[in-house]
Amino acid sequence: MTQRTKRFDFVVVANRLPVDRVTGEDGKPGWKRSPGGLVSGLEPVMHTQDGAWIGWGGSTDEKIAPFDLDEMRLVPVELSAAEFEQYYEGFANASLWPLYHDVIAPPEFHRAWWDAYVRVNQRFAKAAAATAADKAVVWVHDYQLQLVPAMLRDLRPDVKIGFFNHIPFPPYEIFAQLPWRRRILEGLLGADLIGFQRPYDTANFLRAVRRKIGTTARHGMVKVPGTDGGEGRIAKAQSFPISIDSQSLAELAADPDVQRRAAEIRTELGDPRVLMLGVDRMDYTKGIRHRLKAFGELMDDGDLTVPDVTLVQIATPSRERLEYYKQIRTDVELAVGRINGEHGELGAAAVHYMHHSYPRREMVAFYLAADVMLVTALRDGMNLVAKEYVATRLDNTGALVLSEFTGAADELRQAILVNPHDIIDLKQSILRAVNIEPREASRRMRSLRRRVSEDDVKHWSHRFLSTLAHVREHP
Ligand code: F6P
Repeated sequence: MTQRTKRFDFVVVANRLPVDRVTGEDGKPGWKRSPGGLVSGLEPVMHTQDGAWIGWGGSTDEKIAPFDLDEMRLVPVELSAAEFEQYYEGFANASLWPLYHDVIAPPEFHRAWWDAYVRVNQRFAKAAAATAADKAVVWVHDYQLQLVPAMLRDLRPDVKIGFFNHIPFPPYEIFAQLPWRRRILEGLLGADLIGFQRPYDTANFLRAVRRKIGTTARHGMVKVPGTDGGEGRIAKAQSFPISIDSQSLAELAADPDVQRRAAEIRTELGDPRVLMLGVDRMDYTKGIRHRLKAFGELMDDGDLTVPDVTLVQIATPSRERLEYYKQIRTDVELAVGRINGEHGELGAAAVHYMHHSYPRREMVAFYLAADVMLVTALRDGMNLVAKEYVATRLDNTGALVLSEFTGAADELRQAILVNPHDIIDLKQSILRAVNIEPREASRRMRSLRRRVSEDDVKHWSHRFLSTLAHVREHP
């Protein structure tokens, strides 16, 4: 079979391809696999079955031909500059993202953005239909592509379709604000299995289905009416909390070079007694402002002092042209400047702030160097940083302060759980983590680590795909 006509038994459809553009040693442009957790979780399936991944290549107005990398077929979907603005920045990240994250920022609804979302979803569905073999399994990912399941079912009724939402699904009262709420539900119900991070998200979705579609849903099984009086189908909704590639992180954490680098980081920071760490995308949902407010007040109160304690805040650039992302960056940088101005010393900053990303090895060195990890998101589908920190603490030291409003909090019950909106609670929790008895820290971390290593991302994809294989087709 020629490359052009080859079809695949397992097809992943996600907004982005799991690759980054690089320049090779010969100066020629090429691709390198990005270190994301999703691709590690899907790798075994990609390799045992004939796997393809459909996604956007990251540039605009550029046609890129399908290519192979690491035994995967990658099928780029093109976006124009206007579609990047209206579909990705607009509908996905300025309508759906804030709406699905408890309206922390006000969502905007524009008909032109919706039209672009429909058009781009249709393009992804067509690409999936052209790539999937007869009776293939197609797994669609995340809020950017919620219309793809139904569009793909129209084009290819023979394929099995799974959908997984990586971000929260909001309560009905919030979801109902969306002018196209019914269309989104119908889009999702095109899948045989609709996966969410937490049982709470699944319950929110099922409630929205009962209210807007009016169909019955018992034990997560939704009766989807057939079109034009045709036979109906069953779609199943269930939670599948995602995890990380725990084993590869633990291997990096055991690497003597990475451990040496962790010691070096502490030395470079002036050997503080307590090193605290925050690692986030620069996003208003991550609660970085709240974290800095609590940290700054603890310094003002004299409960934490420089150079005894220092906070490293890594905030990687994200969606930088959007208004609320510009705003959060300004707020964070003002807060860091204020805290350092008031409490920093020559050669000893209270907060070390970095607005760029680091390679994976360096991130693991940061995790190893940190005594206290601060995850204070105001709402987060899961929060993989919390799980990554835990997976690297091979000697069971360190303390995790974790927001109740993350999906991870459902599982990581031995973390120090906190309501980040409650600054007093946040300050007390930070102090608890700083002053934790080594025996208590070790007991908590051991239990957290067991949880994270037993349930890694490969188990997650296996659980989802085996459930998908068994969903009944007819009511
Ligand atoms: O959490 C949802 C998500 O889409 C992730 O899959 C992704 O890593 C992150 O947000 C960043 O998204 P973007 O593609 O907008 O940079």
